[in-house]
Amino acid sequence: MKNIKLLNLTLKNFKGIKSLELDASGNDLKVYGDNATGKTSIFDGFLWLLFNKDSNNKTNFSIKTLEGGKEINNLEHEVSASFAVDGVPLTLRKVYKETWTKKRGAPIPEFTGHETDHSIDGVPVKKKEYEEKVGSIVKEEVFKLLTNPLYFNEQTKMDERRNTLLEVCGDIDFEDVLAFNEELKDLPAILKGRAIEDHRKMIAARKTEINKELERIPVRIDELNNSLPDAIIDISSIEVEIAKVEKEIDASSAQINNIKNGSAITAKQNELRQLEMDLESIKRELEADATEQGHKVQARIQEERSNISIIQRKADDAKHQVSILQKDVQRLDEKMNDLRASWTIVDAGSFHHTEQCECPTCGQSLPEEQLQEARNKALEAFNLKKSSELENISKLGVSYKEEKAVLLEKIEKLEKRLPTHTDDIQSKEKLIEKLEAELQQLRESIKDARQDPKYTDKQQEIQQVKDEIESLKSSANEAVSAIEKEIVELKANRSELNASIAQHTQSEASKKRIAELEEQQAELAKEFENIEKELYLTESFIRSKVELLESKINSKFKYARFKLFETQINGGLKEVCETTFEGVPYSSGLNNAARINVGIDIINTLTEHFGIRAPIFVDNAEAVTKIADTESQLISLVVPQSFDNFPKNILDMLISEHGSYEKAKEAWESNYKQLRIESQSNDMKEAI
Ligand SMILES: Nc1ncnc2c1ncn2[C@@H]1O[C@H](COP(=O)(O)OP(=O)(O)OP(=O)(O)O)[C@@H](O)[C@H]1O
Ligand SMILES: [Mg+2]
Repeated sequence: MKNIKLLNLTLKNFKGIKSLELDASGNDLKVYGDNATGKTSIFDGFLWLLFNKDSNNKTNFSIKTLEGGKEINNLEHEVSASFAVDGVPLTLRKVYKETWTKKRGAPIPEFTGHETDHSIDGVPVKKKEYEEKVGSIVKEEVFKLLTNPLYFNEQTKMDERRNTLLEVCGDIDFEDVLAFNEELKDLPAILKGRAIEDHRKMIAARKTEINKELERIPVRIDELNNSLPDAIIDISSIEVEIAKVEKEIDASSAQINNIKNGSAITAKQNELRQLEMDLESIKRELEADATEQGHKVQARIQEERSNISIIQRKADDAKHQVSILQKDVQRLDEKMNDLRASWTIVDAGSFHHTEQCECPTCGQSLPEEQLQEARNKALEAFNLKKSSELENISKLGVSYKEEKAVLLEKIEKLEKRLPTHTDDIQSKEKLIEKLEAELQQLRESIKDARQDPKYTDKQQEIQQVKDEIESLKSSANEAVSAIEKEIVELKANRSELNASIAQHTQSEASKKRIAELEEQQAELAKEFENIEKELYLTESFIRSKVELLESKINSKFKYARFKLFETQINGGLKEVCETTFEGVPYSSGLNNAARINVGIDIINTLTEHFGIRAPIFVDNAEAVTKIADTESQLISLVVPQSFDNFPKNILDMLISEHGSYEKAKEAWESNYKQLRIESQSNDMKEAI
């Protein structure tokens, strides 16, 4: 047991207390004073020194002296205390003061904040070191629990209180609880090694889940039921219908494709070609004989025409030759005329002689006889030449005559042939005329063949296909949009049918789901029942444990009793931590004296538990006539009894001592205008 005794406590300028010294020397003390004389401030000072907090566990309280609501500057606020810790002295001191800094160039220093000086045994130390020292003596929480009887009940949270109590009494073993309650024998199998609280949390969570599910499932089933169609759907007939519609869609789509890529027209054109071929064969069939004959006649006509041309050419040739020959004859005639003229000229020619009387050589005149001879010779020569010339002309004339005769004979021959050619041509032309008439007749018969119904029907068919091709060409777009419209309708129909199937599938799924949900509902209900049983068992366990625990805890205290669990309206247990005294809960109107004494009782147990004994500050100790026994040092902060409350014998004694009631009262009250510190032995009450 660590024993901490307060030897001395000194306050200077602390919360309005100018100066106060509590010289306890490790003994119990009573500090008397009227209200507002500073009793509580003493305890505040003590706690501030150790933990920087006041008796309300607050840090933001005003330490500095206030006057008229204003802080007085430049004061040092100091608390120091001497302790004996297991007999070893320790002095702690803290001084809180303002810091005033003189800035460069400024005439006066400026207030810049506060600082706290710490010292241990008169040696200044850093705050950290100071705190470590205090912490090494006792932990703050423990110290507060041990020095203030109200701290446990009024300034700690429920969980902290529970934990402290459980720590003090130690937990109850699982097996002890099982042994305590026979009903709990199945619990270990249920827990499977889990902590009871974990299991409870788990099953509570599961229970919530199950509840949610159980709430949700009927709603879901209802929804599903509502979504089921009223009428029964005949799937197989719908499927047949869909197949039909799909086929129609395919056909229409193919039709569109055909139209779009022109194959409809191509098909029609092929059809047309075939029909034309058919027509041709019908025609051939019908015109076969006439055509053949026609061809023959045509050939004859052709032949005859070429014969005519040949004859004509011959006739033309003959005419041409005749004209050439006639021109030759004419030329011969002209030549003969010229010959006749020449003959006449030659025949009429007479001798003329020009005598040359001089010798050409010597130029001398020639003799007469010589001249005669020369004249005879010249005449003879002349006559010879004339007859020769005439003979030549006659000969040439004869040859011309002969040549002309030959020519005339040729002309005659040729001219004789000309009428034959004309006749031939005429007869040929007549023949051609006849043949053409024949051909015309044959053509007429071919024309007749085209009147044949076989032929005309085919022609009609061809015309129809031609019309179709034309209309296909012109109305391809219209046709496409018409078919597309059809397809849209078909698809809408198909969608409706598919929707029916989907609805059927959905309703089947819904029915299955309903069955599943109903099964799930039954399973959950069963699970819920099991969970309830488990919950009941865990609660039984807790109740048993609570019973054991509370009796174990309560056995550790003299006055204080603790309620650690509260039964709720639903029968469940709620963790609480309520201190009671003689059955009265601390939180609901426990009287001040009992609050203090229960607090001291708790401190006594905690002192034993923590192994630390520290001074107890009992504030408002005037409330208690008999403070609970404790071995700890007691610092009681007391408002003295009111003068009028004294028993009559004491009042009379005091009045006679002071001469009058007023004087006696004033004397009594003046005693406590300021704090009076009295040791246990000087207890005023006892004196009185
Ligand atoms: N910083 C301060 N400066 C000056 N006076 C202060 C300061 N803080 C508190 N006081 C005053 O000091 C007085 C002492 O208060 P304290 O609570 O200690 O009195 P008390 O004796 O405990 O009274 P009660 O018997 O009513 O509990 C009060 O009047 C309070 O207003
Ligand atoms: Mg007070």
